Amino acid sequence: MISVWVLVLTVLANGFSSTGIGMDNSTIPDFVNIGVLYSFNTSVGRIVKIAVEAAVEDVNSDPSILGKTKLKVSLQEDSKYRGFLSIAEALQLMATHTVAIIGPQTSTTAHVISHIANELQVPLLSFSATDPTLSSLQFPFFIRTAFSDIYQMTAIADLVNYYEWREVIAVYGDDDHGRNGIGALGDKLAERRCKISFKAPMSPEATREEITDVLVQVALAESRVIVIHTSTAWGPKVLAVAKSLGMMENGYVWIATNFLSTRLDIDSPLSSDVMDEIQGVITLRMYIPDSKHKREFASSRWKGLTSGKTANGSLGLSTYGIFAYDTVYLLARALDTFFKQGNQITFSSDSKLSQLRGDNMHLDAVKIFNEGKLLLKSIYAVNMTGVSGPFMYTSDGNLVNPAYEIINVIGTGTRRIGYWSNYSGLSLVPPETLYSKPPNRSSAGQKLLTVIWPGETAKKPRGWVFPNNGRVLKIGVPKRVSYPDFVSQVQGTDMFKGFCIDVFLSAVNLLPYAVPYKFIPYGDGHSNPSNTELVRLITAGVFDAAVGDITITTERSKMVDFTQPFIESGLVVVAAVKKTESNAWAFFTPFTPMMWTVTAIFCIIVGAVVWILEHRLNKDFRGPPRKQIITTLWFSLSTMFFAHRENTVSTLGRFVLLIWLFVVLIINSSYTASLTSILTVQQLSSPIKGIGSLINSKEPIGYLQGSFTRNYLIGEIGIDESRLVPLKTPEESTKALEKGPRKGGIAAYVDERAYIELFLSSRCGFTVVGQEFTRNGWGFAFPRDSPLAVDMSTAILELAENGDLQRIHDKWLLSIACLSQGAKLEVDRLNLRSFWGLYLVCGLACLLALLVYLIQTLRQYNKHCPTEPECSGSSHFRTFLSFVDEKEDIAKSRSKRRQMEMISYRSTSEVGSSISNAEYYQSSMNRIDCTNEV
Ligand SMILES: *[C@@H]1O[C@H](CO)[C@@H](O)[C@H](O)[C@H]1NC(C)=O
Ligand SMILES: *[C@@H]1O[C@H](CO)[C@@H](O)[C@H](O)[C@H]1NC(C)=O
Ligand SMILES: *[C@@H]1O[C@H](CO)[C@@H](O)[C@H](O)[C@H]1NC(C)=O
Ligand SMILES: *[C@@H]1O[C@H](CO)[C@@H](O)[C@H](O)[C@H]1NC(C)=O
Ligand SMILES: *[C@@H]1O[C@H](CO)[C@@H](O)[C@H](O)[C@H]1NC(C)=O
Ligand SMILES: *[C@@H]1O[C@H](CO)[C@@H](O)[C@H](O)[C@H]1NC(C)=O
Repeated sequence: MISVWVLVLTVLANGFSSTGIGMDNSTIPDFVNIGVLYSFNTSVGRIVKIAVEAAVEDVNSDPSILGKTKLKVSLQEDSKYRGFLSIAEALQLMATHTVAIIGPQTSTTAHVISHIANELQVPLLSFSATDPTLSSLQFPFFIRTAFSDIYQMTAIADLVNYYEWREVIAVYGDDDHGRNGIGALGDKLAERRCKISFKAPMSPEATREEITDVLVQVALAESRVIVIHTSTAWGPKVLAVAKSLGMMENGYVWIATNFLSTRLDIDSPLSSDVMDEIQGVITLRMYIPDSKHKREFASSRWKGLTSGKTANGSLGLSTYGIFAYDTVYLLARALDTFFKQGNQITFSSDSKLSQLRGDNMHLDAVKIFNEGKLLLKSIYAVNMTGVSGPFMYTSDGNLVNPAYEIINVIGTGTRRIGYWSNYSGLSLVPPETLYSKPPNRSSAGQKLLTVIWPGETAKKPRGWVFPNNGRVLKIGVPKRVSYPDFVSQVQGTDMFKGFCIDVFLSAVNLLPYAVPYKFIPYGDGHSNPSNTELVRLITAGVFDAAVGDITITTERSKMVDFTQPFIESGLVVVAAVKKTESNAWAFFTPFTPMMWTVTAIFCIIVGAVVWILEHRLNKDFRGPPRKQIITTLWFSLSTMFFAHRENTVSTLGRFVLLIWLFVVLIINSSYTASLTSILTVQQLSSPIKGIGSLINSKEPIGYLQGSFTRNYLIGEIGIDESRLVPLKTPEESTKALEKGPRKGGIAAYVDERAYIELFLSSRCGFTVVGQEFTRNGWGFAFPRDSPLAVDMSTAILELAENGDLQRIHDKWLLSIACLSQGAKLEVDRLNLRSFWGLYLVCGLACLLALLVYLIQTLRQYNKHCPTEPECSGSSHFRTFLSFVDEKEDIAKSRSKRRQMEMISYRSTSEVGSSISNAEYYQSSMNRIDCTNEV
């Protein structure tokens, strides 16, 4: 690199005269040379010249800056701002021992000059070369004294995102400024998941014809959001051509970078012709906070400065003027610090330059500024408040608080619709009021006023159109062989019908714009086409969309954008069912063996308990032991059918029997119900009862040919490929299922629920087993990032919400028969678990009755026994048992006695005896018992 510049210098050196300026090196110098390289013969240049001269005057008259040292400015006209000439002009400045150069105007020149600045270590301060790549480490001596375009592009990206556009077209001059700015825009849009769909570069000095050619291309593109990034001089020409091409109409969005606001500021007011050309355009302006300093400078001071210098005195102040003024102050303050730190300004010849010195070359005039790096450091360290507000640098070499005003061109003037700041994004309030608050980029906080867009509408343009070249959307539709209700071609026409087509047509009708389309059948008509291949053809550009029964799967959604699903459709397993064959032993099945056993045991227990409670009092339960056992068993069994004849006389016996009869009632009715359902239920004819047994079994499984089911079953579930049987039509599936795995058919059939519903609606003898094991849906496929996919999704949701989707579903896919029949596949046998509560109650009742009976008997025995000699010692228990087991006649006589006692009791109570009924009864009983025993 160095050698190239040395060569250039060698060539140019002839033209320079060495006009070195003497420098007093012992003390602070009397004057310091600074150069200004700018195209003063442009609208911006005129302002800059005035501003710089005013600033130098102000600095020189201000004793607080630089003391007695004065700034001496050399203005160098950068006539054509072309690279090569600019080098010569820069060298001419350098030869005058400048310590810094202000300028150049354009980024293109800045790129070139920066190499010289690097070489000679002279800081280059530019406020109008906003190309972000100039901040690179390659150009350490380039200092930007305005906001980098990276921030302007961030603002535009935020704006695009705010209005929910996804794609923009970039129109720019194909030079460093345009290209690198648009590059930054692309990065910033990508961060917000937007993109530049079309780049339209133009030669920086394009003619009207060239501009027309490029803009015609732009008009043919899909996006209607156009970002234009050019130079101030040339940009308005592009807008004028756009207006003449009808591109300033309704539907277009034009976002111009700050070149347009600069033009509006300087030439204000613009002629009404020019204003007509830019109605509705949005542009950005570097934001300078309002302050007393700024107001003074912008009004009275600026008028005074411009009145004498321009013929008509109507040169508006642009932000460039203010930044130019501040740049001079920045340099002055940096030099002030530089000298205060005891530094001196010295120049030396470059050894390599010296080697090239020849007779006719005066390269000794171009010298290296030895303290350049120190000056650079003090420039970056400056902390001042200029006309443009706080003026200092962040550690990455950018001015603090970059912010822009967002301006909408309306009528004869402009309207500010909001601000953008690097700190908080878009806002309605000036950025400086936000710096005290924590940064807030939440989308709720991003606000702008209403914009009047081109075409004088306040309605936000959609941002895209169908490519305006007479092309219709080519929509691929699968040519299905089976299930024509979903989608099928109308015989002999290009038309399609079916559920999916109806949903698509209804959704398209809801779109706020017309969509020209035509259906193109896909598939050979003999077998179902693979929908994955159909989707792949969208990526290949064969189709612009695909409509049909296309399941949204991971693989497919990697290739295209799907709309919202318009029908839910997970995979389900279908198996054949058959009626249970009648079984001679079916009557056993309602209860589990355990249940049978427990019931039998309880039957016997209750019989025994009733016998214990009854046999002392009840004639039916007495007699020889054999008769008693038979009676007891007969009694307990006949209670099962409520057919017992034996009377129960004791309270406790009746209590136990009552509870038991209740248990019997419940068990009986449960048995009846269960047996009925067992005899009528259907049975699966295959061992597959859901996805779990599908994996474990070895039986063949059928699937619909061409569907994604195959990949899913092999890849996700891990089913061996050899088990899968492709089936073309529902008829084939029916046959294969009916045959069953043993006769060469299939054990189960896996398919999407939507098809299966239709399948089952016209066939009996099959059923869905287990749960749906995926949760898919069907959607329409569009190319990636297609705005139509988003609008169609909205339309589908609208259809779902207003019930149309259901109506279309019912029209095509209403199920007819059999769906409900096969629902019951298996009846669980009744087991003990459902009844143990009953048995518990019954058991407890028995225990309780026995306990009460025992206590009663013991009490009677005790009252009777103390008087008896044999009621003592080891024979005690035997005596008790024999007491309990009284003879029949005793019981008889006892009941007779009891009747007598009752009569006498009645007479006693009539005469007012104080003995209670119970006591009386007990005592009379005891009397009888003891008498009998004797
Ligand atoms: C500059 O200072 C150096 C020593 O620091 C001295 O040798 C030289 O003569 C001085 N030059 C001038 C022009 O005063
Ligand atoms: C300024 O530019 C115009 C053309 O743009 C030219 O005619 C004029 O001579 C230039 N003036 C100077 C002083 O260069
Ligand atoms: C100033 O007036 C002259 C004619 O007198 C015109 O050509 C020129 O464009 C005007 N300049 C501005 C900045 O309006
Ligand atoms: C800049 O100067 C102001 C006062 O003039 C001071 O408050 C502020 O902290 C300084 N900033 C930095 C970064 O030094
Ligand atoms: C701009 O914002 C980014 C992210 O919030 C931050 O990293 C950067 O330092 C800011 N730049 C300036 C100059 O404040
Ligand atoms: C950001 O601004 C929004 C709207 O103004 C507000 O609701 C939210 O609380 C703010 N968030 C923070 C962190 O301040």
